[in-house]
Amino acid sequence: MQTQVNGITIAYNDRGAGRPIVFLHAFPLNRTMWATQEHALSSRFRVITIDLRGHGESDAPLWRYTLEQSADDVNALLDQLAIQQAIFAGLSMGGYILFAFYRKYAVRVKGLILADTRAQADTAEGKDGRFQMAQTAYKKGPTAIADIMIPKLLSPTTIQTSTALVQQVRAMIEGNQISGIAGDLMAMAERPDSVPLLKQITCPSQIIVGELDQATPPSDAKLMADQIPDAHLAIIPQAAHLTNLEQPEPFNHIVANFVSELSKPS
Ligand code: MLT
Repeated sequence: MQTQVNGITIAYNDRGAGRPIVFLHAFPLNRTMWATQEHALSSRFRVITIDLRGHGESDAPLWRYTLEQSADDVNALLDQLAIQQAIFAGLSMGGYILFAFYRKYAVRVKGLILADTRAQADTAEGKDGRFQMAQTAYKKGPTAIADIMIPKLLSPTTIQTSTALVQQVRAMIEGNQISGIAGDLMAMAERPDSVPLLKQITCPSQIIVGELDQATPPSDAKLMADQIPDAHLAIIPQAAHLTNLEQPEPFNHIVANFVSELSKPS
């Protein structure tokens, strides 16, 4: 489905009924990374997956890209869908956007699932790496970005043994426009430190991380779990950064349990 928010077209899926779960994808992917979750969870819950601006079937304008802008897009879509409150799941960049969302729209957040993400801002070296990657996107296109990103997103075993999954991830990356890739990189480089926010998060939170995640390692997940007052941590074996794709069954199980607990009458 498609709609207009904040002057651009945003593509999304809205499947199932019950407690809404809103899924925000990683950089530089799109909403189809959640297809397995949508399939497994939409028989029990209302599952919304969104192509963030710059990705997939949503518009990729030249500007403006900030994590707060993406949070505003999500908020405007929820207004249109008449969803007052939801559980939000964000993986990596999706998690960064959830911190921006929580700063502005905490009242809408019933629970947070923060997967393979981190609260810290980029280091100076990290910001420089973003700039270099934007230059690569501009000069060589999304295929070069896929070559760089796939070893960061998937474990060596997945890359060696799961050709179909590697192709799926490559197709998502190659389907993006350079404006979206560069816009995201600038938005992530400029994001604020969210560590001070962690202690102020009052909703229940589920932290998930792949034990082999090198992009946002288990130490980052532990920091969030230690500082968010009502947080639980799950470390998924045999998964790197894209836990939901590499190990969908344990991932879905953790999400379903968390949402079911939150949906019980209090
Ligand atoms: C992602 O998966 O969204 C990215 O790896 C996040 C990042 O580059 O910091």
